[in-house]
Amino acid sequence: MTRIALLGCGGFIGSHFLDAALADPGVQVEGWDWSSDKISHHLGHERFAFHAGDLYCFPGLAERLAECDVVIALAAICNPSQYNTRGVDVIESNFIQPRLIADLCARLGRWLIQFSTSEVYGQTLAHWTRDARPDSSVEPPSEHVILDEEQSPMLLGPVSAQRWSYACAKQLLERYIIALHREQGLDYTLIRPFNFLGTRMDFLPGREGEGLPRVLACFTAALLDKRPLTLVDGGHALRTFLAVEEAVQALLGMVKNPVQAKNRIFNLGNPENEVSIRQLAQTMRDIAVEVTGDSSYAELPLLDVPALEFYGEGYADSDRRMPNIERARQALHWNPKRDLRDILRSVIADAFQIHGAVESAALSPKRS
Ligand code: UGA
Repeated sequence: MTRIALLGCGGFIGSHFLDAALADPGVQVEGWDWSSDKISHHLGHERFAFHAGDLYCFPGLAERLAECDVVIALAAICNPSQYNTRGVDVIESNFIQPRLIADLCARLGRWLIQFSTSEVYGQTLAHWTRDARPDSSVEPPSEHVILDEEQSPMLLGPVSAQRWSYACAKQLLERYIIALHREQGLDYTLIRPFNFLGTRMDFLPGREGEGLPRVLACFTAALLDKRPLTLVDGGHALRTFLAVEEAVQALLGMVKNPVQAKNRIFNLGNPENEVSIRQLAQTMRDIAVEVTGDSSYAELPLLDVPALEFYGEGYADSDRRMPNIERARQALHWNPKRDLRDILRSVIADAFQIHGAVESAALSPKRS
């Protein structure tokens, strides 16, 4: 039996990892989170123990972690709308608190799988080669565009752009963990996610919470409300998107193959699914038409909004995030296949079903 401690088990990635891990009879999980809303279907499972509340205040945490084979650390603020508005909490939850877990794992001799971020690459060097767009005739040097775990530099913006508080905290955490490995023998794995997509991501503003979630939930909520989709600074930023179900298979593959996974950094993303945010908005409108049969979704306006107006002072953006995933492919025999339309279709169909905007009978056979 592989015993996993899952810190942040009730979030987007944690909830999908639980689905995958508990489907494996050789795995048992002990999890911590503030909320169990996204994992209520697993409460009471014989191989899952759940602790509600602040994991950093949990009495006997060290004893519990000492019982596990691996600690997976997911708990953190990872919502860009908060990087420039809640810098103290962002640095606390992305460096100061997880640093305590890393220290504990080093002391206990436990393997730590720490979730980092693709944002450690920062603005990316494509930023400095602005012509280097997929639709440009200028071919950028690939080392400037394809982000490699060992080779690519990490280019953060100025301190005055508080957006980079998150990337900086995560980068420092990575460096701290690697120092613990070198100086105190901590076994670690660092994961850099490149925009995982799927159901249960963030919250739908106005329906499931208030504030600004990440782009998928912003656009989904706009579609449900038949409002314009907002494009920050024209929606020119590029992202690659990976199905969260495929991402958690890579994570499970690491847990099952410690020799391949330990003491390495892994990009997890799908380079085949690169689009601009403008293209993402257009595709999501089209899929809403397919899912509902209502052609008026195609007419929803795309509204350009300056970043200052949308996010406030101190926001900045990564212009392009193209991962090199050869390491994960080779070490884990992992090869993500789901294309973006397929992922978006399941997310949009789910949201429309849950919120009553479409009857299940209207869904095409592919989904239902
Ligand atoms: C975020 C997190 O900061 C990363 O840690 C994380 O790795 C990444 O998501 C992820 O999900 O993997 P980001 O991609 O910037 O980074 O997150 P979004 O808030 O989803 O923004 C994506 C792009 O859409 C940005 O260019 C943003 O300005 C734009 N956007 C967002 C819009 O144009 N309209 C919106 O309504 C919302």
